[in-house]
Amino acid sequence: MLKLGVLASGRGSNFQSIIDEIEAGSLNASISLLITDNPDAYAIERAKKQSIKHLYLNPHDFKSKNDFYTRIAKELVKRDVDLVILAGFMRIVGKPLIEAFPNRIINIHPALLPAFPGLHSQKQAVDYGVRVSGCTVHFVDEGMDTGPIIIQAAVVVSPDDTEDTLSERILRLEHKIFPYAIRLYSEGRLYADGRTIKIKGYELKDEFFINPPIHR
Ligand code: GRF
Repeated sequence: MLKLGVLASGRGSNFQSIIDEIEAGSLNASISLLITDNPDAYAIERAKKQSIKHLYLNPHDFKSKNDFYTRIAKELVKRDVDLVILAGFMRIVGKPLIEAFPNRIINIHPALLPAFPGLHSQKQAVDYGVRVSGCTVHFVDEGMDTGPIIIQAAVVVSPDDTEDTLSERILRLEHKIFPYAIRLYSEGRLYADGRTIKIKGYELKDEFFINPPIHR
């Protein structure tokens, strides 16, 4: 069974969606550890409810960014983690973690990359006036939201959308595609062809990947 290590900084609703899929039996994985960089992250409460081990690490307690990520890598390796999940982890991952888990770290981003990387992507999308946005699950490299894309889902953006309404709609899709991407990984169906991630036995299911706008 795939052992997951989750890194989160806040609310942890994506973390919860992974817990729920495991509970429902649709994701054959277990969560070995939650690491947070924020002692007040609600994700910690979610871990407690499920008796998932959790660990808070304060980046300011470390001499350097490298030391911080070396420690994170050590904690994950210690628990035999196979795949590292960034579920709303609000930092750019450092080299020691990437080197310890090459092509074994995945992130969810609330925009259709390569559009709107970084913070406040939903606001960026609304301010830009795009008509389609969405979310992306991708492997993590040293750049900011630049790694190979595993899966994306789109939402139509209404001219009346605000950052909040768009975020909410995108989040609903995040909760579907993140566990789905982990499942694809757990089934050994992902392989790289250059920076393109191929998916064995992939069937395009439009209704799953496009969410209609609330206001028509
Ligand atoms: C999500 O929108 C995710 O795409 C982004 O940070 C947010 C985290 O939300 N990386 P949550 O903590 O999972 O509820």
